[in-house]
Amino acid sequence: MSSVAVRIDDCLSIREGHLWVEECDTVELARRFGTPLYVVSEDQLRRNARRIGAAFAAGWPDGPVALLPSLKANLSLALRAVLNSEGLGADTFGPGELHAVLTAGTTPELISVNGSVKDAELVRRAVAAGARVTLDSPAELDLVAEAARALGRTAQVRLRLRPDYDGLRQPSQLDPGRSVRDAAQRYKPGIALEDAAAVGRDALAADGVELVGVMAHLGRHSTDPAVWAGMGASFAAAIGDLCRALGGWRPEQIDVGGGYPAPRDPTGHGAAPPIETIAEALTGALRAGLGEAGIDTSGVRLEAEPGRALYADTGIHLTTVRNTKRQTRPLEWAWVETDTTEMFMADLLIEHARFGVMAASRADAEAEVEADVVGMSCGFDVIAPEARLPAVSPGDVLAFLDTGAYQDACASNFNGLPRPATALVHGADAEIVKRAETVAEVFARDSIPARLR
Ligand SMILES: Cc1ncc(COP(=O)(O)O)c(C=O)c1O
Repeated sequence: MSSVAVRIDDCLSIREGHLWVEECDTVELARRFGTPLYVVSEDQLRRNARRIGAAFAAGWPDGPVALLPSLKANLSLALRAVLNSEGLGADTFGPGELHAVLTAGTTPELISVNGSVKDAELVRRAVAAGARVTLDSPAELDLVAEAARALGRTAQVRLRLRPDYDGLRQPSQLDPGRSVRDAAQRYKPGIALEDAAAVGRDALAADGVELVGVMAHLGRHSTDPAVWAGMGASFAAAIGDLCRALGGWRPEQIDVGGGYPAPRDPTGHGAAPPIETIAEALTGALRAGLGEAGIDTSGVRLEAEPGRALYADTGIHLTTVRNTKRQTRPLEWAWVETDTTEMFMADLLIEHARFGVMAASRADAEAEVEADVVGMSCGFDVIAPEARLPAVSPGDVLAFLDTGAYQDACASNFNGLPRPATALVHGADAEIVKRAETVAEVFARDSIPARLR
């Protein structure tokens, strides 16, 4: 084991001029597995899961706390297996994600099948597996009741609510130009406030259906703890109205969704408050609001669905410098050309994310040049604009930080580029947990009709 020279965070460090993940030299990983490459730290994932769980537990002395990490943030089955071993559940959307968590062995009772367009087959699979269905519309209740009848099982459902978020006039970071409240109200999922009581009543009356909880997801509109306190207060108000309308029914589970920032928050463009601060703000306001509404929270299970906060800083993306290029006129500019693409860090496009970049193979060298780090797609493909880097040359390895959430999950094959592999690091060990695609696989779904051949 090499001595630690400079610690970047709990899993990244600089040793002997290279960037390390846990006890693995990233330059070695790049050589061994090739680039581009997603690298994920299992140990960091476990640390994050425990820390986020503890943060919510500290704010919720009333009952147990369960984390349901959002699978969409990282679809890797190996990472899912890590989270299973930590005893965590899963938030899933659609048949693919339900298939993934069942395949990986997630405890069915801790699975939430969410999503705004569920068909009868998805609902049947969820009920058959014993997963909870988080209802998004009145129509879905009929699908659940039908599946429960056909399978001879009791199905557990929760109502996904759309709280008013009336206090949240702050601007949304996700949808600049709108307040958090406005942006949240334009977001499609959940049962309309005016329908919630009726769906709740029908669920309580339906044979084979058990109404066990409520859920709301604000989304990543803000890193401001005051917004999360507002979320908690608005959700509590919506729960209070529902419980009154249902004649004193009380949820066994309250799921506050996700949207909490990652520590270096590449989508919010800067350091975010720690998860402890956000969880404290949210749970404090939620408990206070539920108390005001006269809801006894003792024994109620609090659930949270972190995605980016859990996964983002577990991952880096490694790429090799292929070429450097400079011009002096008409505009003086410089580029570092790499073997990856913005398509493999899709939040550059979707969320205007900025991922920190480091020269992994020259990690302790002084920054000498300013250049756009660009990729190999024909798009503008500026991955790190005007980055300050040591004087890198072809063969050097670069690392983009905080790519553990959504980047692999949203990667595309633009320009016919096969998607990269993922290596999982655990201490000094590293192994491929998702192999790279091949060019043949990129085109495997195509067929040319005989008449065109
Ligand atoms: C229902 C639900 N829960 C949790 C998440 C995770 O969000 P984030 O990655 O911002 O924490 C999402 C993301 O869209 C979601 O839709």
